[in-house]
Amino acid sequence: DKSFRVLGIETSCDETAASVVALKAGGVPEILSNIVLSQIEEHAAFGGVVPEIAARAHVEALDGIIEAALADSGTDLSGIDAIAATAGPGLVGGLIVGLMTAKAMAMSAGKPLIAINHLEGHALTARLTDGLAFPYLLLLVSGGHTQIVLVRGVGDYQRWATTIDDALGEAFDKTAKMLGLPYPGGPNVEIAASRGDPSRFAFPRPMKGEQRPDFSFSGLKTAVRQAATEISPLSDKDVADICASFQLAVSDALGDRVSRALSRFRGEFPDIAAPALVVAGGVAANRQIKATLEALCGEYGFLFVAPPHILCTDNAAMIAWAGIERMRAGMTDPQAMDFVPRSRW
Ligand code: KG4
Ligand code: ZN
Repeated sequence: DKSFRVLGIETSCDETAASVVALKAGGVPEILSNIVLSQIEEHAAFGGVVPEIAARAHVEALDGIIEAALADSGTDLSGIDAIAATAGPGLVGGLIVGLMTAKAMAMSAGKPLIAINHLEGHALTARLTDGLAFPYLLLLVSGGHTQIVLVRGVGDYQRWATTIDDALGEAFDKTAKMLGLPYPGGPNVEIAASRGDPSRFAFPRPMKGEQRPDFSFSGLKTAVRQAATEISPLSDKDVADICASFQLAVSDALGDRVSRALSRFRGEFPDIAAPALVVAGGVAANRQIKATLEALCGEYGFLFVAPPHILCTDNAAMIAWAGIERMRAGMTDPQAMDFVPRSRW
């Protein structure tokens, strides 16, 4: 068949991932394989991602993960048309492992290399899963990023809001740590919150009602710490109540920021009848946050697009897809072989 196949490689944080995505005749994409190896267990004892451990784990795992992704896709390297790898932003050790591997493979097999910005991967995923047309709004909420981005086209992004201190996932992880819940904090805070009383603690809603579009979560973190130290020792009920109150405050604060962006989008694109808000990042798995966003979208007449969890969190299918989008748009960099990984980008 005439499908165009790209191998994607992702190693920017604590997931070692490889995937093959095909663009079939007629422009229909298909994920042929999608392998993600999480390093969570390696980092759990430290309560967060340790860069040196992450880099070593990528070195050890990446070859096998790529082989598995190729095998799963039913092809070998000769059936691949291009190789796309995350080149930043992220932990530089992991980026070097992924990009160097991609360069070596591209050189030895004579295939083009595409250096991908990890955030572009998240930004374009909704076109792989839902075939969304430009422009749309993206809310990216992960352990490293909290941003609202206007996605206007391939390579054409405008950041409308970012966090001025902690990322939202980080706020969940730190809250969990203060309360003695295991890493990663997000899912464990959510479980505890489901048993708690969200009205017991009146935590602040940072930035709520402010003109500036950005996020902030450090004040909320401080309030949680205060509540936790005042009560010590904490009972299970206290932990559950703090988690429920924290999650409500977060959903509220997030909702306020997102509603500003939705009205701004309405103002800038009055002719788009049913615009879309896309969520990405691990925090998007949170049911209360999802419900809050879904309700807001209903209120503002937006389509709420939440790609499947495996494609919302870090993965290589989004990197392969970004590669396809770039090739299709004629936006590849002929100097990609000289590309140096960028921890900030
Ligand atoms: O996107 P992701 O898997 O990795 C990156 O950070 O790039 O996001 C991980 C983050 C962690 O901070 C984790 O605690 C948070 O997402 N998270 C959640 C939930 N599941 C994961 N936060 C809130 N509720 C959840 N259910
Ligand atoms: Zn990510």
